[in-house]
Parts: sequence; structure tokens; C-alpha cells
Amino acid sequence: MKSNNNIIESDKFSFWYGNIRALKEIDIQIEKNKITAIIGPSGCGKSTLIRSFNRMNDVYENAIYGGRITFKGINIFDKKTEITDLRKCVGMIFQKPNPFPMSLWENIAYGPKTHGIHEKSHLDEIVERSIKLAALWDEVENRLGESALGLSGGQQQRLCIARALSIEPEVLLLDEPTSALDPIATGKIENLIIELKNKYTIAIVTHNMQQAARISDYTAFLYLGELVEFGPTRDIFERPKEKLTERYITGRFG
Ligand SMILES: Nc1ncnc2c1ncn2[C@@H]1O[C@H](COP(=O)(O)OP(=O)(O)OP(=O)(O)O)[C@@H](O)[C@H]1O
Ligand SMILES: [Mg+2]
Repeated sequence: MKSNNNIIESDKFSFWYGNIRALKEIDIQIEKNKITAIIGPSGCGKSTLIRSFNRMNDVYENAIYGGRITFKGINIFDKKTEITDLRKCVGMIFQKPNPFPMSLWENIAYGPKTHGIHEKSHLDEIVERSIKLAALWDEVENRLGESALGLSGGQQQRLCIARALSIEPEVLLLDEPTSALDPIATGKIENLIIELKNKYTIAIVTHNMQQAARISDYTAFLYLGELVEFGPTRDIFERPKEKLTERYITGRFG
């Protein structure tokens, strides 16, 4: 969607792992304070796309890019763009909760500390604010000194969201954040994501079509590295323009 409210935009973005082309000339826009869902069958390039938004794919030696991605109008692949600055603004949550093997408090204070905040009372404030934002406070306020590995999977995932929020990003990228969780924990994360869009911009990869339909404002359907259809979630699910989209959302392949 062309709009001045787009925080991330890609322009004919292509990506190769060596000679495997994972993304083909993707034009997508991520609108501020909205939830954009990315759906499509396994291997279609969803993770590659979302990981490109904060240059997580740079870790692959054989990575080759084509086209552009901009964050607030600035080309993220420009030599002048500092990856650490980009990642501070664009945080990432993975499929499997990955808290550090440290206390809850340390998990949240870690990022702010690396950004130069050392005063205990300031860190306490950030820890409390971040855990509250992640809708986890009531469950853990008396356990901040305990190991994060003692939390349930759903609590660990909310802790990881709190950790991402602790450095005040603008965008949160979530790659199948609930696929390892039970329905109750999934419901809590979905409610949290909806709550967070007031303050943040969210892009979420999901295999769960109901989840995309429930929480997102826009949906992008990828197939074999191409963006087949992108639009308001209602349109994609109720009146898709492409036959392929219709076949996918009605479960005829995937
Ligand atoms: N590190 C890698 N090296 C080589 N090829 C890769 C690598 N990671 C992904 N690919 C290939 O790139 C394509 C897109 O993969 P990607 O992980 O983005 O798909 P996906 O849509 O996230 O799939 P899934 O739903 O299974 O997570 C696939 O063909 C995959 O095999
Ligand atoms: Mg993936």
C-alpha cells in the first residue's frame, strides 16, 4: 500500500542463498502502528523476508541481495547504515522462546546495559515497564531474581517480547512466535500483539491462517519466493484476487 505511514518498504527486493533464489522482486510496505501478517507454505521465503528487515540474513556468507529495503526512507543496505542502530529500532522474536540463561531481571536489563544504561534504579524501571508491556508482570513480579529458564514456554515468549521492548524499538518482527505454544499461551500472545500495535509496528510470520485473520490489518501471501497478493486482511481472506491465494487460504495446499 502506498502511504506516508509506511515505516518499512521494499522495492523489487530479491534474495539469494548462493545460487538459491529465496525472494523474487518483492514490493511490500509495512505500515506504522499496524499488524502485517506474512503467510505462505513452508519454504516460500517468509523467514527470509522478515529477517531481511533487520538484516539478520547478513550472517550467511553466501547472501546476495537485489533491490532495496528502506526503514523510514533510508536504505538499510547503505554503507552508512549501522546494523546495531537498525536492530535497536527493529527487534526480532523467534519461533522458539530463547531467553538467556540468567535471571528475569538480567534478561531485560541486558540490552539497555549494552546501550550504556547502568544505574540500578533506571534499569529497575525499564525492567518493570518492559515486563508490564509484555503482559507478564502479574505472573512474575516476585520472581525477577529467578532463572528465566524456569518459566513456562508462553511466559518465556512474553519475556522475550519484554526483552525486545526494553530497548524501545519501533518495529517488532515476529517469526511464528506461537507455534511452540498451547492455545491458551497463544491467545495471550495474540492479545498482547494487538495491544502493542498502539505503540509499535508489527510484522508477523504465521502458519496459522486463523491467527493471521484474527490479529492482522494487512496480509501478504508469499509463494515460491514471490509476493502473490498483499492487501487488507479482510480482502485477502474474504475476496482474494488471485486463485492461488484462494486455494491456499481454503487449505487446498500448503
Ligand atoms: N541458510 C540457508 N541456506 C540455503 N538456503 C536456505 C537457507 N535458509 C533458507 N533457505 C532456502 O530459502 C528458501 C526460503 O526459506 P525460508 O526459511 O525463508 O522459508 P519459510 O517460508 O520461512 O519456511 P518455513 O515456513 O518452513 O519456516 C527455501 O527454499 C529454503 O530452503
Ligand atoms: Mg520460516
